[in-house]
Amino acid sequence: MRIYRRFLHATPWYLAKYYWWAYLFRPTVWFFDHQWIINAILFGQYKKLMRKTLALLKDEDLSLPLQLTSVYGCLSPTLAERAAPNSLHLTDVATVQLEHTLRKIPADKRLYCTRMNAEHLGYADACFSCVIVFFLLHELPVDARERVLREAIRVLKPGGKLLVTEYGSTPNRHLLYRFGFTRWVLGKVEPFLPGFWQEDLTKILQDYALDQGHTLLVEHEEDVFNGFYRVVSYRLSE
Ligand SMILES: C[S@@+](CC[C@H](N)C(=O)[O-])C[C@H]1O[C@@H](n2cnc3c(N)ncnc32)[C@H](O)[C@@H]1O
Repeated sequence: MRIYRRFLHATPWYLAKYYWWAYLFRPTVWFFDHQWIINAILFGQYKKLMRKTLALLKDEDLSLPLQLTSVYGCLSPTLAERAAPNSLHLTDVATVQLEHTLRKIPADKRLYCTRMNAEHLGYADACFSCVIVFFLLHELPVDARERVLREAIRVLKPGGKLLVTEYGSTPNRHLLYRFGFTRWVLGKVEPFLPGFWQEDLTKILQDYALDQGHTLLVEHEEDVFNGFYRVVSYRLSE
């Protein structure tokens, strides 16, 4: 029996099959959630990516922020800090991830955790003032990615901000991409990344917003690490 099948219970197949070792297996969850490890995985860019993500939340309405899925490192505690005295909402499909994040939140800050598949959120329409998606999209197969993005738009209030921190689109200029071996390794470890690289994220999001009767404007887009990563914020029309 393949190991990943043990993790299939109430878990999307792609998460169990390709990422059980990263997000579902308790000992490795503990292992990966060290700042220097997650920083190494992101080629030393974690702090910079987090700083740029948080900068885009400056002066933003944080009355009801949603972090769409857990992340390793100190992003969630920092977001909870920023949102205080309001609560940060966080949803993830993996209980072990939610438990792990809860332990990182200072006792005087508020975090509401829910366990949901981001493809089918149980939240009402237009309920969050901003939605933050940090390195989730490239880990999803294309159909799951579509559902997650449609849900992210659906739960966002008109006038709200959608913040995406991700791999850049086809980073032709970057050595890690140009060098066939590293591109091959990345594609092995992150099997949906090659597809994600080719997608026009903004166009896709704008199409999904239009389907829901909104326009979605790029408010800020910034390359990080010579375009290997990006931080983009979008504003949903009123
Ligand atoms: C945000 S992503 C990657 C984060 C990034 N590698 C980091 O830790 O900085 C990883 C999280 O997404 C969650 N996840 C993946 N697919 C999901 C889905 N369909 N619904 C909810 N959570 C999901 C996983 O359980 C995991 O906690």
